[in-house]
Amino acid sequence: MNEIVRDLAIPNDWDRRGLPGWCYHSDALLELEKQHVFREHWQIACHVSDLPDAGDYIAMDVVGERALILRDQDGTVRGFHNICRHRGSRVVADDQGTCRSALVCPFHGWVYNLDGTLRGAARPRSFPPLDKQEFGLIPLDLEIWLGFVFIRFAPGPQPSVEEVMRPFADELGEYRTTDMVPTGGVWTQKSPVNWKSVRDVDNEGYHVAMAHPALQDLYGSSYYDEPFVGGLCRSFATYNPHAGRRWSVRNYIAIAPDAVHLPAHLRKAWIYYGLFPNAVIAVTPETVQFYQEFPLSTGETLLRGGIYRYREETRQQRAARYLAFRIDRDTQAEDVQLTIWSNESMTSKAFGGFYLSDLEYGVRTHHDHLRAVLPVMNVGEAPDEATMAGLNAQLRAATA
Ligand code: FES
Ligand SMILES: [Fe+2]
Repeated sequence: MNEIVRDLAIPNDWDRRGLPGWCYHSDALLELEKQHVFREHWQIACHVSDLPDAGDYIAMDVVGERALILRDQDGTVRGFHNICRHRGSRVVADDQGTCRSALVCPFHGWVYNLDGTLRGAARPRSFPPLDKQEFGLIPLDLEIWLGFVFIRFAPGPQPSVEEVMRPFADELGEYRTTDMVPTGGVWTQKSPVNWKSVRDVDNEGYHVAMAHPALQDLYGSSYYDEPFVGGLCRSFATYNPHAGRRWSVRNYIAIAPDAVHLPAHLRKAWIYYGLFPNAVIAVTPETVQFYQEFPLSTGETLLRGGIYRYREETRQQRAARYLAFRIDRDTQAEDVQLTIWSNESMTSKAFGGFYLSDLEYGVRTHHDHLRAVLPVMNVGEAPDEATMAGLNAQLRAATA
């Protein structure tokens, strides 16, 4: 351990303690997270089936950035900053929609082609000649993996999505997610907590037995988490064909068809594939979904996700999917409450930090990943907000 790190107040049982409480309400840390945790890492934007036709788009606001994902005239899915090159207005105002053959900025009417190039300014003779490329929409890094559209706002430490996700490619590939279709569009919900409180709860199954009666009934005895390694983690469970104390679980198990489209070991599996820093792709035999969280402020988080189904689904699959959705909906409401209770304690002088079980290594290893990106999170006492970025840079250089 080098001197700078040793001199800081780092408790020696830090791995059980988790991140110090100040990390959950520091504005200066949030600014560092926005850049190094969010903009510099791949983010799931949507699924290709959310954009079935030319001109279909999805827009999302993330950590001060605005993204626009669009299918162009040739069928290519493209990503841009949702920023007009004239005065920075949003080019599209809605989260999801369709434009005909061009994007028309609602402010002064500059028009962009679906490939992002500028078609023309309004009153063009009031400008010098405008280069169509130079004044085109600014592209985002975009990669499609098993049907999911990933974007990145800034270059970062991760290689391509294909490389990052390779350990999951074979297993998740069994679900033919590329061919799936949306069940209801991208959903969003706000929650009054720090984004890390959401991830902390989601990263461990130690709480399932106590806090999620339906999940415990469904698959509690088989559930296990794997730790975050290289930015990925996986949680696996198979549902118990004899369970059924809860209405939704009893009916799910009774109705779920034998998933012969999957290999035997996946036919009853509910699997959660975690992707650092903030996303999960989850499968059941009937569905695939993604969910993620983005900070709106230190104390408010945007939850976002989408659920997809097989294009040709049987009535049984459809009914099972509905029941799985009900189980998930109850689980999510339970988790939201847990995140609130956990997050509230972070501002209490009495709270001394987590004391994590060996079963909560999902939380511990996620925190390790965060500390690797932002070593200032190793500091036990809240550093001065004004010098946070400088201290982090110093620690980064020292631990490199
Ligand atoms: S800001 Fe878009 S046309 Fe003026
Ligand atoms: Fe949970």
